[in-house]
Amino acid sequence: MNAILIEQLNKTYKLDSVETIGLADVSVQIAPNRLTVLSGPSGSGKTTLLNMAGCIDRADSGRIVIAGQDTARLSDNALSDFRARQIGHVFQTFNLLPVLSAYENVEYPLLMARVRADARSRRVMHLLDAVGLANKAQHHPGQLSGGERQRVAIARALAMAPPLVLADEPTASLDSHTGASIVELMRRIQRERRVSFVIASHDPQVIGAADEVVRMRDGRIVDSGPVSQREGA
Ligand SMILES: Nc1ncnc2c1ncn2[C@@H]1O[C@H](COP(=O)(O)OP(=O)(O)O)[C@@H](O)[C@H]1O
Ligand SMILES: [Mg+2]
Repeated sequence: MNAILIEQLNKTYKLDSVETIGLADVSVQIAPNRLTVLSGPSGSGKTTLLNMAGCIDRADSGRIVIAGQDTARLSDNALSDFRARQIGHVFQTFNLLPVLSAYENVEYPLLMARVRADARSRRVMHLLDAVGLANKAQHHPGQLSGGERQRVAIARALAMAPPLVLADEPTASLDSHTGASIVELMRRIQRERRVSFVIASHDPQVIGAADEVVRMRDGRIVDSGPVSQREGA
């Protein structure tokens, strides 16, 4: 079963009377238990595709199947429950809640899902430990570096143990050294937890860590496949 199956997806943005093509007839299969990078220049449709796959935004037409579930067949309520359990999100600017501690940010999805208090605290501390931040659990985002904030965001994305994590330019706000450590963390978590990671990025460090690369341009997919095959290794 594919982590993501997308068929003939179209999305046009209309701003005033200007239409911009976000995605043009995109079909792609993303294999499970891999680190897949969506690459391509700015404006090529990476965020649009990620937002469709993450059910953050709706397509004009086409089919999106996540872990075997056709998302169009779910009611709004069922879809938000499905999203919460199946998909973790990581963003370029971390999107942590500034008034909450690192601990509380990671706990948030578990609270929303009404996970019991003892299971919650075990899970949060386990994840903060996994991202190397157990000693900063009580720090607020403003007291953490960019790299540390992104580690908290990654722990939060994993809170509900989703089989799929979508990350949009997760290293773009970080210096290259910090970016490299975030890439290494995602690479390790992917292997250890067998999560499917799909990362939109044009950062060569991220592309270098990929199992599979999907290349986009002008709202279309121009190439996709395993890295070793593509490079003839
Ligand atoms: N909310 C929006 N309104 C209008 N146009 C948009 C919007 N979001 C994206 N676009 C346009 O859609 C195209 C694809 O954008 P995007 O998916 O953000 O690309 P990428 O993430 O690869 O930089 C671009 O031409 C962009 O300008
Ligand atoms: Mg983008």
